[in-house]
Amino acid sequence: MSMFMPIEASDRAAQIDTIFLALLIISLLISALVFGLIIGFGIRYRRASSADRGPMPEFFRREFEIGWTFATALLFLFLFWWAASVNIEVLVPPKDSYRVNVVAKQWMWKFQYPNGVRQIDTLRVPIDTPITLTLESQDVIHSFFVPAFRIKQDVVPGLRTETWFKATKLGTFKLLCAEYCGTDHSRMRGEVIVMRQKDFAEWLAARPEGDDLARRGAELFVSRGCSGCHAESSNVHAPRFPGLYGRRIPLADGRTAVADEAYIRDSMLQPNRDVAAGYRPIMPSYSGLLDDGEIESLTAYIRSLGTVGGAPAAPTAPPSGGAANAAEAAEAADPAGPTTRPTGGGR
Ligand code: CUA
Repeated sequence: MSMFMPIEASDRAAQIDTIFLALLIISLLISALVFGLIIGFGIRYRRASSADRGPMPEFFRREFEIGWTFATALLFLFLFWWAASVNIEVLVPPKDSYRVNVVAKQWMWKFQYPNGVRQIDTLRVPIDTPITLTLESQDVIHSFFVPAFRIKQDVVPGLRTETWFKATKLGTFKLLCAEYCGTDHSRMRGEVIVMRQKDFAEWLAARPEGDDLARRGAELFVSRGCSGCHAESSNVHAPRFPGLYGRRIPLADGRTAVADEAYIRDSMLQPNRDVAAGYRPIMPSYSGLLDDGEIESLTAYIRSLGTVGGAPAAPTAPPSGGAANAAEAAEAADPAGPTTRPTGGGR
């Protein structure tokens, strides 16, 4: 296989190559059979031949016909199931995976790690670790393509897509944009560097950007006016940020949401969509007023204010309906808002 295919550098690559090889062999065998029969019959029943042209034996008209129809149908159903099961696996990232945020724009790839470290056009990942990428586009449709991992995921503006992989080989692999996105589409390329887990941890720890991002977010918090409502000293009844990040919070309509990057981003851009329980929808949208870098910085600032118990809160067991309502009522009545709640929400 390696003669014809790019190097296999993820655990999925081998699976996909096996499917491809099986499809290729089956297609070749069937093509050979069909062409063999066409040529064979062409010669046998050519105009000058005296071969018997009488009626077909009964067996060929019934059992044989039914047999090959079902056999091929089953074969193709099996191939469909096989390929679909591998493709569906791609849609469901493992829970314990390491998350990297990817922003595509004309014409570069921006990567951001959970601690705020940012990279352009170079994605570094630890080996043998499930990595989930959340992909967003700032402008047009791009496509995140790493041939060695057999990954190709469209990145669509206004949509947050995910894909995941587990790298199994150390080294540097090509990253390409596989969707025509304008003048420099062909130059929108980068690389994925797979490192030993220890090397990756050291590299990540040695980068100071995470801090810088949060510090910039703290400045924006004041200069963009967020502090007018969200600062501890404000008189406005708005959520406070310390301990917010990663917590499960009840929403006004009874659902709950985890205060993760996506939720925080949505809260700035579409504040009236998922309003936290106990607050009035008074926040204006900052869509068009904050660029992606500023949103990232503000998110890093909120993250730097800590999570409850130092770690993202796990959803707790749902209490009975009455208790949940009581908890919400208590929260609505609590002047300091949900930040004073000791654990990760009640629902
Ligand atoms: Cu981005 Cu093509």
